[in-house]
Amino acid sequence: MRWTERQLAMLREMGVPPFWPTEPVAVAVATPAPAPDAVSVAAQPPRTPPAERPASAPAAPARPSAAAPALPAVSEAILGPRPAGVDAMDWPTLRDTVAGCQACGLCQSRKQTVFGTGHTQARWMLVGEAPGEQEDRQGEPFVGRAGQLLDRMLAAVGLTRSEAPPEQQVYIANVLKCRPPANRNPLPQEVAQCEPFLLRQMALVQPDLILAMGRFAVQSLLKTSEPIGKLRGRVHEVQGIPVVVTYHPAYLLRNPADKALVWDDLCRARELQLSRAAARSGTGRGADQGT
Ligand code: URA
Repeated sequence: MRWTERQLAMLREMGVPPFWPTEPVAVAVATPAPAPDAVSVAAQPPRTPPAERPASAPAAPARPSAAAPALPAVSEAILGPRPAGVDAMDWPTLRDTVAGCQACGLCQSRKQTVFGTGHTQARWMLVGEAPGEQEDRQGEPFVGRAGQLLDRMLAAVGLTRSEAPPEQQVYIANVLKCRPPANRNPLPQEVAQCEPFLLRQMALVQPDLILAMGRFAVQSLLKTSEPIGKLRGRVHEVQGIPVVVTYHPAYLLRNPADKALVWDDLCRARELQLSRAAARSGTGRGADQGT
């Protein structure tokens, strides 16, 4: 793949090292500029372990996929009682129900639930894993180091979590609404208990696409045990919504060389979203971009 000057500038904003040929190419179509206030990320450990890339992958040191087993299926019989009627709830009811949820043991250790944030009619919906310590404290998803990187990734494709029209402002939610103690991995039962909330958020937002970030989001949404490396590069679908698969920002903090792969995924997602917007408006590509 060859890169335009503007793409190279975006990659620099994301902190992607220029380890591939960077001779730029000219293009006719402008892409969004990186955010001027992109921040650099300090070096502390991220919440999610970098276990997403298969051992055969060339670019970055990674744990072998054997260290990241697929989420096992959970029998309904061992699940606790789930709140009724989630699939018909409106936003306020859903938010209140999540806030009061005691369906699994995580309610005992959480400071608060982390519902989700962003435009309720966003064209992009992002799905992460679970709140970490800072998210648990602040009640917002992705406010720690991984979140800072996520903000820079979003800015590189002209998106934001801050107040903006739905074409630019994303909606962000996690698979789990409560922090697992000591940031351990989510348990299959916890994922299963929490799933109706995420599915309802997806149904209410009705985005053009979902960007599933990291193994737990990807495998639980797609009901698969395939590793991310095998699922990237094609568009999946959940509840009729296209799903683009990519690595988790916390993984990228440990494996920065793989930012180039995530950049490819973001470009793929952007192409998809633009064509969905064009198909919806019937007035040609990019007509729904609000610019
Ligand atoms: N990692 C996630 O997956 N979600 C968050 O909200 C924070 C870190």
